[in-house]
Amino acid sequence: MRYFITGTDTNIGKTVSCAWLVHQLQAFYWKPIQSGLSEGRDGDTVKALSRCSESQLIPSSYEFQAPLSPHQAAAAENQPIHLDKILEDYRRINASAPLLIEGAGGLLVPLNDQELMIDLVQALGLPTILVTRTTLGTINHTLLSLEALRHRAIPLAGVIAVGEENPANLRAIEVYGNVSIIAHLPILSPVCYERLLTIQFRTLPWTLL
Ligand SMILES: Nc1ncnc2c1ncn2[C@@H]1O[C@H](COP(=O)(O)OP(=O)(O)O)[C@@H](O)[C@H]1O
Ligand SMILES: [Mg+2]
Repeated sequence: MRYFITGTDTNIGKTVSCAWLVHQLQAFYWKPIQSGLSEGRDGDTVKALSRCSESQLIPSSYEFQAPLSPHQAAAAENQPIHLDKILEDYRRINASAPLLIEGAGGLLVPLNDQELMIDLVQALGLPTILVTRTTLGTINHTLLSLEALRHRAIPLAGVIAVGEENPANLRAIEVYGNVSIIAHLPILSPVCYERLLTIQFRTLPWTLL
């Protein structure tokens, strides 16, 4: 199974969630657009946190130095992002295991003058996992993202909630968003493989979705 991992924001926990899923599903990982190379690759974080092999990391289609929105990072290097190139790279992936594709930022970040991240999600046609915060403000961000996905008939595999315990917010997301929260990643201190190992799926059998 292949999933697109998006989030309600940047810095929300997409990469850590991917690391957890890579471990849980023995999945391959692909970050088609990696900006902020100056701050490291998400793939390297996934590898360190999941202890996957290098062969489970699929090279990005685009890499940019600046920690900016993809369209700005691409413009800074005069290398515009083309959806077709990403889709072509995607078609070449011969992953024998599940595949996780991590977006950049949230759903409506621009990739170029015409297209947004959600256009890539739609073109890939994969079920999406939305990573959200647990804390105040998350209900609005989560429901807005879910509405954007549904507006384009993008299938939804579920939500991963990251952060301190907040059962009321998780319940509100499930009820008002009509979605299942497949996992809650609590605050990990430190964020490391051993701590991630202890986290279980909240709803099973999730992989049948
Ligand atoms: N469950 C967690 N507990 C503690 N820190 C976390 C957790 N999840 C993510 N973080 C931290 O939050 C920051 C952003 O997480 P990351 O997964 O890189 O977000 P994104 O990929 O959405 O930009 C990182 O410093 C990461 O270590
Ligand atoms: Mg990331």
